[in-house]
Amino acid sequence: MRVLGIETSCDETGIAVYDEEQGLLAHALHSQVDMHAVYGGVVPELASRDHVRRIIPLIKTVLHEAHISARDINGVAYTAGPGLIGALLTGVAVGRGLAYGWEVPAIAIHHMEAHLLAPLLEVNPPRFPFIALLVSGGHTLLVQVNQPGDYKLLGESMDDAAGEAFDKTAKLLGLGYPGGPALSALAESGRPDRYHFPRPMTGKPGLDFSFSGLKTHALLTLEKAPDDQQSRADIARAFVDAVVDTLVIKCRRAMEETGLRTLVAAGGVSANRQLREQLTSLAIKMGGEVYFPRPEFCTDNGAMIAYAGYLRLKAGQQEPLSFSARARWKMDELSVVRGP
Ligand code: KG4
Ligand code: ZN
Repeated sequence: MRVLGIETSCDETGIAVYDEEQGLLAHALHSQVDMHAVYGGVVPELASRDHVRRIIPLIKTVLHEAHISARDINGVAYTAGPGLIGALLTGVAVGRGLAYGWEVPAIAIHHMEAHLLAPLLEVNPPRFPFIALLVSGGHTLLVQVNQPGDYKLLGESMDDAAGEAFDKTAKLLGLGYPGGPALSALAESGRPDRYHFPRPMTGKPGLDFSFSGLKTHALLTLEKAPDDQQSRADIARAFVDAVVDTLVIKCRRAMEETGLRTLVAAGGVSANRQLREQLTSLAIKMGGEVYFPRPEFCTDNGAMIAYAGYLRLKAGQQEPLSFSARARWKMDELSVVRGP
């Protein structure tokens, strides 16, 4: 079975082909970062228009790079939510339309499910069950993953997602959009002992998160700090340390509460070096293991959609001819993927 995957939930058009026997045949990404950077954040209408412009040429490129033609595709998977509705609709309409035209089944994919399955594309994949820490621009979730499609939500952010907190704090520090990678880079030259930020919601039981206070903390610290580069780096360092520590504390708690020792971290923020290092130390301390996607598959991409689509199509699932996109979509509403 060979599946075409289409991702258009936000500001990246991602296309890939996954083959049951050979794995990933080809993948390509068009990032809209430069286009949105001028506005300091994603402009939804511009995002949709750009997906419309890019999607077909990118699909042609990927088929060409995979040395296959449309006739070699046995199924089409597209992100149907959660995300920006106009952006999603572009991928959903094209994906459903192609599947109809090619007379192959189509499958709607939950964007966060695809993120959590992304480490399964690597050579040494995690085994089920595991705990997934999903840290992206729109979501921060701790999920108990029993098997594909069988998810129990353990915790989530009450306000800003981790990536959103990175991006907003980066903006305060005068870094561009998206600020996560730039803020992480600045933090590398920051000193760890100059400022100390709180570790939100770690003092009481529970696995939920709250990151919006850290952004305010960064703002108040910045207002009192001298106007120089070292101070900005020190604030960046204190912020990153606080976010990473908080995520690690909650992962440890989730491992203790569930008894599971396999951890998966995925989503854009899981590309962060410090987070990867600290989760690795946590796993060693707990006698467990941690798995990450390769950095390019931490952020949005078509490969994870093609793979999630392959699992569901292989299990016999498919969408009717009608289609829909969902700006909001809870993961625990998904159906379990039964093996063949
Ligand atoms: O998963 P993703 O590509 O998109 C969503 O589904 O939202 O995540 C994007 C988020 C952005 O907030 C971006 O700033 C953040 O991931 N990000 C990072 C890093 N790379 C991307 N945050 C911290 N450190 C990084 N290295
Ligand atoms: Zn994402």
